[in-house]
Amino acid sequence: MTVSLAATHAKGKFAVDKIFGASAAANKDAAQYGKDKVVNATIGAILDDKETLVCLPTVEKIYRNLPINEVINYAPIAGLPDFLEAATNLSFGDNRPEAYTSAVATSGGSGVLHHTIANYTEIGDTLLTSDWYWGPYKVLCQDALRKLDTYTLFDEKQNFNIKSFESKVTELLAKQNNLVAIINTPAHNPTGFSLSDSDWDSVLDVVKAAAKDQSKRLVLLVDIAYIDYAGEKNECRTFMKKFSNLPDNVLIILAFSMSKSYTMYGQRTGAMIGVSSNKDVIKEFADINQFTSRATWSNINRGVMHMLATIYNDKAIMSQVEKERSEYYALIRERSNIFVREAKAANLHMLPYIAGFFITVPANNPDAVCDKLHEDHIFAVPLAKGIRIAVCAVSSAKMTGMAAKMAQAMAAVDK
Ligand SMILES: Cc1ncc(COP(=O)(O)O)c(C=O)c1O
Repeated sequence: MTVSLAATHAKGKFAVDKIFGASAAANKDAAQYGKDKVVNATIGAILDDKETLVCLPTVEKIYRNLPINEVINYAPIAGLPDFLEAATNLSFGDNRPEAYTSAVATSGGSGVLHHTIANYTEIGDTLLTSDWYWGPYKVLCQDALRKLDTYTLFDEKQNFNIKSFESKVTELLAKQNNLVAIINTPAHNPTGFSLSDSDWDSVLDVVKAAAKDQSKRLVLLVDIAYIDYAGEKNECRTFMKKFSNLPDNVLIILAFSMSKSYTMYGQRTGAMIGVSSNKDVIKEFADINQFTSRATWSNINRGVMHMLATIYNDKAIMSQVEKERSEYYALIRERSNIFVREAKAANLHMLPYIAGFFITVPANNPDAVCDKLHEDHIFAVPLAKGIRIAVCAVSSAKMTGMAAKMAQAMAAVDK
């Protein structure tokens, strides 16, 4: 018998990271056959056409010029006030709802998830997200002794499945009073889907109906990690206006992340932005989440918080960053257009892609299809029910022909 010193609740914790595994296989293949031959569609970060990790140039310039004391010093636990102001304004754009808001700095979007799970669900509760989801959602729930259940994201017409969302909300609220639903939109990971404004109306109708029972507390965690690669700035934020005048027992939490928007992935900087019609709910939001920050990581990256404030407070710098980012948005769009067009030609069914870093192709046997693709030196991430292709990381040249090869691999495996 193996020796284990772990506490009962910690025994057996082990995360199998499929993304890491797929990426390691791609690197091994590149070492053997040369980088030129290998299509590595596993990486969730923007790579340029030379396959170098992109840092937005103006972001790099501001970062490198930060005064050293702004980098090394501690920051307030809640975050630098001018960072919180910038994060809030950047999150809403021109679509600020009529509501009270407050922001707390977090270690990226992951930190927002961590705190929301800790502070808005009871131990043993079940959270809700869609059946296509970013794997760490479940890890975060499990680590906090919570569970994660899913609704079906798409109906048979590939539209947002509001019926499934509604029935899961009803089912979960029949057995618990707190419900946190995580909605990753726009430019969802892994599908690239975005809820339309009318999808949002339906979601909020379900939430408002459930909130009529005063014993229930509903939180919608809106994961906007990819929002800055989802389309025109204000058009893809119009849904935020709908967070006006919600019932007192409904709280919206936006997960703001600098990982993708400012190419600061490893710098671990983000914020949770609470939106409520009730002043007390927002005061409590600021208090309890700050407390959990103190208990989890203390304060976060001061330099990058200062950097965002510096960018935001200078209109010319801000618009330069937006311009640079929009060039990469266009690059991702060019790559995804190739895949979408070729998938159609090859009769390869893919999930509805609107924007973002990833495209997903549903598959009966994702692992076998991915293994088969290795013969063509193509590496993608096998998910439970499909294959994720990182359009953020593959050049247009390498993207060309990939959909046809996937269709062939799929046919060979399903034969
Ligand atoms: C769907 C989704 N949400 C949130 C994040 C959060 O990232 P971070 O913690 O780096 O902000 C990611 C990063 O990959 C993501 O894919």
